[in-house]
Amino acid sequence: VDNWDEEEPSPPEIEEAGLCISRGEAVAFPTETVYGLGADARSDEAVEQIFAAKGRPGDNPLIVHIGERSQWQGLASVIPDMAEKLADAFWPGPLTLIVPKNNAVSEKVTAGLSTVAVRMPEHPVARALINKAGIPVAAPSANQSGRPSPTKAEHVTYDLDGKIAGIVQGGEAGYGLESTVVDCTGEKAVVLRPGGITREQLTSVLGEENVAETAALLQEDAPRAPGMKYRHYAPSAPLVLVEGSINEAAKQARGEGKTVGIMAVDEHRLELQAYADVFISLGSKDELSDIAARLYDNLRLADQSSVDVIFCETFPKKGIGEAVMNRLEKAASAS
Ligand code: TXA
Ligand code: MG
Repeated sequence: VDNWDEEEPSPPEIEEAGLCISRGEAVAFPTETVYGLGADARSDEAVEQIFAAKGRPGDNPLIVHIGERSQWQGLASVIPDMAEKLADAFWPGPLTLIVPKNNAVSEKVTAGLSTVAVRMPEHPVARALINKAGIPVAAPSANQSGRPSPTKAEHVTYDLDGKIAGIVQGGEAGYGLESTVVDCTGEKAVVLRPGGITREQLTSVLGEENVAETAALLQEDAPRAPGMKYRHYAPSAPLVLVEGSINEAAKQARGEGKTVGIMAVDEHRLELQAYADVFISLGSKDELSDIAARLYDNLRLADQSSVDVIFCETFPKKGIGEAVMNRLEKAASAS
């Protein structure tokens, strides 16, 4: 993942944005996962601007971004052993760790929870900006609540123009899906949201026996990641995931007089595009990380295509495929 230097902002731009954040304003900036909307994590008023700009429900907590590992102690009341191990292995990078919080963090950030989500991003612009601001930066994805996370500066402009102090432009996000969120407060690590760091990577560090199964989490009554209960990425046309034959599904919908969008891999284009009013290529089936990187842009495209129904193919839930399918399933269940 190194495609973030194409439209690199100049140091004075980063400096100005860092100062804006330290003054209490909300500024969008690139990270290696998706664009974030950052503000001073210690200030209620600053954090309120994030919720207002995004139209985000107040009970959905934010991730606090740090530039130096030493800032972590200032946010947590204790740092469990497994959290230290995961940070050693994957920070800076697309991994968010949930640990018990201390009083320095605004209640607005944690939505009243006793825990705080912390991430040290890898993107050089994000790091420079956080270090310039000199404070922990609360930052959700910089999209309008309910829309796909922004992987390009233009997505941020489309969703939030006029509602925030500014955008630091930084080319396309590398991973294109959000960070993996891991709850480190219990006996085992629990993946609350699959993302850039895969389950396989987590178990290679902690051991299979120290990472909870996904199924166990789904059986719990109360969702542990408050954000997971909200509507996500709902396209205006219904999105239908098809495991079997997309052309059968498409034929039937057209028979009912509907216009049809198909999202599929390059290798299936020739076979499928005759059945589609709009065909959106997801990338090559052998390059799942490219499919992940372009997924949100493709969902935004699909959304703008004004078809009646969108059929999309599915992927094996292995490696980054787990996160890709998680986001597709959310988009499908919301529509
Ligand atoms: O890649 C990312 O993580 C991006 C970039 C900007 O860093 N940020 C991001 O933030 O995706 P957001 O707010 O869109 O998603 C944060 C997720 C939400 O599902 C939220 O509910 C969960 O993390 N979360 C935050 N604090 C939590 C906590 N204390 N306990 C459980 N879940 C928490
Ligand atoms: Mg988000």
